[in-house]
Amino acid sequence: MNTTRIAGTGSYLPERRLTNFDLEKKVETNHEWIVERTGIHSRNIASENENATDLALMASRRALDAANLLAEDVDFILFATVSGDQIMPSSACVLQNKLGCRKIPALDISAACSGFVYGMSLADSLIKSGNYKNILVVGAEVLSRFVNYEDRNTSILFGDGAGAMILQPSDGDSAFHAIDLAADGSLGDLFELPAGGSRLPFSQKVLDEKSHFMRMKGKEIFKNAVRTMNLSCQRVLESSGTKEEEISWLVPHQANARIIDAVAKFFGIANEKVIMNVDQTGNTSAATVPIAFDEAVVDGRIQRGQKILLTAFGAGLTSGSILLTY
Ligand code: UT7
Repeated sequence: MNTTRIAGTGSYLPERRLTNFDLEKKVETNHEWIVERTGIHSRNIASENENATDLALMASRRALDAANLLAEDVDFILFATVSGDQIMPSSACVLQNKLGCRKIPALDISAACSGFVYGMSLADSLIKSGNYKNILVVGAEVLSRFVNYEDRNTSILFGDGAGAMILQPSDGDSAFHAIDLAADGSLGDLFELPAGGSRLPFSQKVLDEKSHFMRMKGKEIFKNAVRTMNLSCQRVLESSGTKEEEISWLVPHQANARIIDAVAKFFGIANEKVIMNVDQTGNTSAATVPIAFDEAVVDGRIQRGQKILLTAFGAGLTSGSILLTY
C-alpha cells in the first residue's frame, strides 16, 4: 500500500501588519501583557480586497512550484478554513477555478485550527485508495473579519494567512507513520462563532449582540489545548513506536507560546527543536501548521529524512497529530 510524502510546501502572509501597539489604540490592553501571556508581537491582516481564497491561491502556487508541478497536475483539493470567502460555493471550488485546475474534486474542511491536520489525514487516505496522485491541501484564514476589535480576549490573538502542501504517494523514505484525529463536540461552546448559519441567520439582532464575531472562553480553551495535544502526540508516538528523542522538529499549532512551551516540556522536547512563529503571525487557525512548516523548509531548518511531529487543536473541539518523515 502507498504511503504519503510532502512533495512541496508554500505559504503566504498578507502585507499589512497589526502590532500590539496598534491594538493598544483599539482596546484596553498593552504590548507587555500580550507578549507575556501569549508570546505574540504582531500579526498580518488581509487587505479589504483579499479573501481567504486569494491568500490560498498565493500559498498554493508556491507549493506547486516547490513540487515542480502545474495546477493541471492537481487531482484533488482539500481546503481547511472557518473563514472561507462565502458559505456557498465552497472555497475549495473557488480556488480550483482561480488556480486553473481541471474539473477535479474540491472540498472544504471545517475543523477550525485542526483543519489542516485533518486535511493531511484525509489526503493520506485518498492517496492510499490509489485513486489520487497530487493532492493540494491548503489552510487559509481571514479571521480578522470575524474578530471583535472591542474584545481584548480574542482581538490580540488572531491573524490572517495561508499555507499549502502538495501530498503524493511515496515509495521512498518520506512517509506518514501515524495519524491521530479526535473531536469532542460536548465542549463546542468554549469557542464559537454563533451567527451566520441556519441556527442564527443574520439579522439586526445578530449585529446588535455582535454574534457575528468569535467568542472564546480563553482559560478553558488553554487547558484543553495543552491536555488534548499532549494526549494526541502521545498516541502517535505510541502507535508508531517512536521515542521523543527521534523527533527532529515539533511543528505545533501556533495559538499561544505558553501552550506550545507546555506541550514541548511535557515531551522533553528542547526549544531549539520547536518551530514557533506565533510571535510574528499570531493564530491563523487552519493555516498555522503549514505556514510554520513552510517557513522552516524555506530557511533550511526542516530537511528531507527528518522525523517531524505535527499537532493541532481547535474549536469543535477538534485535535489532530501526524508523525511523518519529511
Ligand atoms: O486555536 C485555539 C484558540 N485559542 C487559544 O488557544 C487561546 C487559549 N487561551 C489563551 O491563550 C489565554 O487564555 C488568553 C491569552 C486568551 C488569556 O490569557 P490568560 O493568562 O488566560 O488571562 P486571563 O483571562 O486569566 O486574565 C488574567 C488577567 C485578568 O485580570 P485580573 O482579573 O487578574 O485583574 C484579565 O482581566 O489579565 C486580564 N486580561 C488582560 N489584560 C490586558 C485579559 N486579557 C487581557 C488583555 N490585555 N488582552
